[in-house]
Amino acid sequence: MERKISKAVLPVAGLGVRLLPATKTQPKEMLPIVDRPAVQYVVEEAVASGIENLLFVTGRGKRAIEDYFDFAVELEQELRNRGKEHLLEEIRGVGNSAHIFYVRQKSPRGLGDAVWQAKAFVGEEPFAVLLPDDIIVSDTPCLAQMLRLFTDRPGIYVALIEVPREEVTQWGIVKGREIAPRLYVIEDLVEKPEPEEAPSTLAVVGRYILSPSIFDALAQTPPGKGGEIQLTDAIRRLLEKEPVYGYRFAGEYFGVGSKIGYLKANVAFALRREDLAPEFRAFLRGLVERGLV
Ligand code: G1P
Repeated sequence: MERKISKAVLPVAGLGVRLLPATKTQPKEMLPIVDRPAVQYVVEEAVASGIENLLFVTGRGKRAIEDYFDFAVELEQELRNRGKEHLLEEIRGVGNSAHIFYVRQKSPRGLGDAVWQAKAFVGEEPFAVLLPDDIIVSDTPCLAQMLRLFTDRPGIYVALIEVPREEVTQWGIVKGREIAPRLYVIEDLVEKPEPEEAPSTLAVVGRYILSPSIFDALAQTPPGKGGEIQLTDAIRRLLEKEPVYGYRFAGEYFGVGSKIGYLKANVAFALRREDLAPEFRAFLRGLVERGLV
């Protein structure tokens, strides 16, 4: 099996119900975190991890994503006319640093079905999947951490975080055996279990390294939780055939597909920005002093 991973799949067809009404007319992936769309952080992570080819699995109402990663000829000319060359680099940005491909998921049949759309793009190589709802801040990009492990120990990988038991219903939950610090052999996976049925409180977050055999597994996976084809169920089918690892990455996780996660990410990212942090921090201190926080 080829070991170098150069392809990643980003499913972006989801409806964004948890962020309504903002997502009624715009993709959730395009909502800004500080001043750049959420999806950009995830594309930057993929590129910084060595990914060269990215496939967006899009759907209806998601054209703004394609436009964002394209050149904006009129805008660029206007910026040149106004002598704002420094902004040009910024808006051409990360779209320039990878080859980007698009395929449409015609109906929202679940994450497993979205990944299935990548079959022709992926071919016979292992590949990565990144879910743009999940943003991770870390010194070494989360995907790069996982790819390092993959090089030494090929297999399927899922990223993990510890969640409170009452929240397991929102996640794919694993049963894992820790074999090295942060690294687990996965023995079972359950999509969004009830708290009393959950095999642990270790949840899968949206970073995966998959092998092409996932497509055979997906082809045999019937609709699961919520009537959707679940990626978790397809990975479960591979447990007996391939090693599946879970990795509790080093980094801070933000679930920007929910309102509260989206708000937290904005605060955290603003505080990391040299140009904004001093004034923003003073504003937050003011709130604390006035007893509002
Ligand atoms: C999906 C997966 C789930 C995983 C989660 C991570 O769920 O089905 O296993 O834990 O992403 O964000 P979703 O959040 O799309 O419902």
